[in-house]
Amino acid sequence: MYRLLFDLVLRRLDPENAHHLAMPVIRLAGRRPLSWIVRALTRPAPQLRTEALGLVFDSPFGVAAGFDKNAVAAMGLHALGFGHIEVGTVTAIAQEGNPRPRLFRLVADRALINRMGFNNRGAAAAAERLRRLRSRSSRPVLGANIGKSRVVDVADATADYVASTRLVAPVADYLVVNVSSPNTPGLRGLQAAETLRPLLEAVRDAAGRTPLLVKIAPDLADDEIDGIARLAVDAGLAGLVATNTTISRDGLSTDAASVEAMGAGGLSGAPLKARSLEVLRRVRAAVPPDFCVIAAGGVETGADVAERLAAGATLVQGYTAFAYRGPFWARQINRELARLTA
Ligand code: FNR
Repeated sequence: MYRLLFDLVLRRLDPENAHHLAMPVIRLAGRRPLSWIVRALTRPAPQLRTEALGLVFDSPFGVAAGFDKNAVAAMGLHALGFGHIEVGTVTAIAQEGNPRPRLFRLVADRALINRMGFNNRGAAAAAERLRRLRSRSSRPVLGANIGKSRVVDVADATADYVASTRLVAPVADYLVVNVSSPNTPGLRGLQAAETLRPLLEAVRDAAGRTPLLVKIAPDLADDEIDGIARLAVDAGLAGLVATNTTISRDGLSTDAASVEAMGAGGLSGAPLKARSLEVLRRVRAAVPPDFCVIAAGGVETGADVAERLAAGATLVQGYTAFAYRGPFWARQINRELARLTA
């Protein structure tokens, strides 16, 4: 059904417009009384309940950052079966992001390229929404992913991240420092150990008791991954998210000229699967068993989620396949996962 809708209608729409069309529908799914009905159809099986970061997740599978940047659709996403929502990336200063078009479909690859550039209403607005969401009796786990405001110099990044932290950490279940998006100039350079350590320590101190994680790029060299994993443990973080999108364009089926015409940005979806899994394995080998590792990148099926869990992921996230598989994607994943883990 969704396949038909996708082939006949959605794939003809600009992907960002398709996202904006989907958001009110998802939000509606989170409104009572519809949410009760949707939830009855999508509620994850009890055996999927997962404890991590001192929190209880009703499924290990959640929505990766970037889908609900402003925390406006979390209840709807929860009704659709996602166990957690990582809202953001939010920045201390609200910003428009890059000029459009900035989101592209690679249908033959079941992938997306984006250079959104952290379009968001700012950390204060997100904090207000999170505060209201937290008062709901039945709600998903709510993570907040923070990034650097574009107008702030890379040299002043720490103060900017700390400003976001002070706003969102008190109202988030966990916090993620994003130093891995390819669409903010200089951001990924913050992954270098000498800049990352003071940044993470400052954010950790500002985050108080809220568990802190760091999200890394799949394009790091293996020894850099090992180094960041050890640094995260050393600095007293609670976990790591692996991975963000890639700047690589290797192994795509979409013709090279079309890919070239799309321009710069992060590639996500199926082509990212193998590398993200590899990074997950490396990270898991470098950290203690109780350190939380959230896997993201190219997850499409319940079997993919099960594979990540078997490879040492504590939790798993997805984004791109949601656009290709439709509103009942989380429900399908949860059902398959329940069968596989029964
Ligand atoms: C993203 N992603 C992302 N990540 C992040 O930390 N902050 C962000 O703001 C965004 N924004 C964003 C926008 C769009 C359009 C996409 C497709 C992705 C990356 C995302 O959270 C995830 O790490 C990757 O997309 C890999 O997972 P999938 O999409 O392959 O399941």
